[in-house]
Amino acid sequence: MRDRPALLLPGDEAGLTSSKRLLVRDLAQVVTPAGTGAPLRGAALGTVEVLEDAYILCEGGRVAATGRMAELRVDGDVEELDGRGLAAIPGLVDCHTHACFAGDRVGEFSLRAGGATYEELHAAGGGILSTVRATRAAGEAELTEITGRHAAWMRAAGTTTWEGKSGYGLDHGTELAQLRAVGAAGGIPTWLGAHTVPPEFDGADAYLDFAVAEVLPEAAQLAEAADVFLEHGSFDAAQARRYLTAARDAGLELRLHGDQFTESGAIPLAIELGARSVDHLEATGPDGVAVLAASAVTGVLLPASALFLGRPMPPARALVDAGAAVALATDFNPGSAFCESLPLVCSLAATQLKLSPAEALSAVTVNAAHVLGRADRKGRIAPGYDADLVLLDAPDWRYLAYHLGHDHVARVVVGGAA
Ligand code: NIG
Ligand code: FE
Repeated sequence: MRDRPALLLPGDEAGLTSSKRLLVRDLAQVVTPAGTGAPLRGAALGTVEVLEDAYILCEGGRVAATGRMAELRVDGDVEELDGRGLAAIPGLVDCHTHACFAGDRVGEFSLRAGGATYEELHAAGGGILSTVRATRAAGEAELTEITGRHAAWMRAAGTTTWEGKSGYGLDHGTELAQLRAVGAAGGIPTWLGAHTVPPEFDGADAYLDFAVAEVLPEAAQLAEAADVFLEHGSFDAAQARRYLTAARDAGLELRLHGDQFTESGAIPLAIELGARSVDHLEATGPDGVAVLAASAVTGVLLPASALFLGRPMPPARALVDAGAAVALATDFNPGSAFCESLPLVCSLAATQLKLSPAEALSAVTVNAAHVLGRADRKGRIAPGYDADLVLLDAPDWRYLAYHLGHDHVARVVVGGAA
């Protein structure tokens, strides 16, 4: 383990990991992805276990036991939570967000509604760069306050573990401030130092010289992973390789934004470098599907982003049927996906990506936890896993995906604390 400053990770926050025992009793359903391994692929992705009339016993912040109420045996001091009419699923894991940003892009949103495209706005100096200007202008205290507010939105929608990227600073101070703000808000920081080229640099290579020499050494102490936007107008495959190799040498895990608008070599590069994930994939064709499916890299699908931009959906069904490891995430950001709701992402997965509710559940729990290197602790309701639970007020857990735009989140338990 590298030395790192004390960060507040989900479930570790002061007062949130309960030392007491908590019994959630009389639950209509307890639902968890089956098995013990990760990532889940193929038929295993769509296999969930459903216990009816059941309980969950939490102890020391972990799940101690689950079972049918008829088999419940517990004595001694225990806090009880009435689960009647509720369905419990694992706390949701959002493995791809840009939750640390200042300002908004509502003006651009209106222009896009009138026909302007995301790429045109980006090329004209708007898009990501307009959020860079707002984020640079905010101090670290304001960024921390905003990110905390966004984390509360996510928590209200059932997210108990989340990743947050930098990439709206693109200078030394603001990138590091973003990473600290994500950690302070309880997120898992990813250094998106190669998001796009800021205006003060003469081209991508000159910017990467600076980012690798001046920002990476400290970013590597704050972040768990590095990410790059591999796309025309941002970074090409050779530049992405240079940036990611330097990040890997500094001890970071690797992620890529790839195949969002064009197939630009992100999948082969992700495989070559042993990245944890390649994210977006709206433009991925049949060859890319086959290559990714045969690899250890997880494809992170972001249907809220495709919907928000009016772009084609990623080939999710083909990926799952070919045996790829897939996760789902929001891509929460002010420009391409102003959406923090994983329940909505599950609805889009079912209606647009043709994934079953069970496949969607596994993709926003255990497989998303795998992308964040936490599948041994997060993403299942089983003994030994962190006691992060979402209680849905619905007669069937599949309302998570079924009810479009309504999340049914009645209660969120984090680290065994209700
Ligand atoms: O994942 N594609 C690049 N980055 C983000 C969008 C960021 C923004 O538009 O501010 C994404 O879609
Ligand atoms: Fe993104």
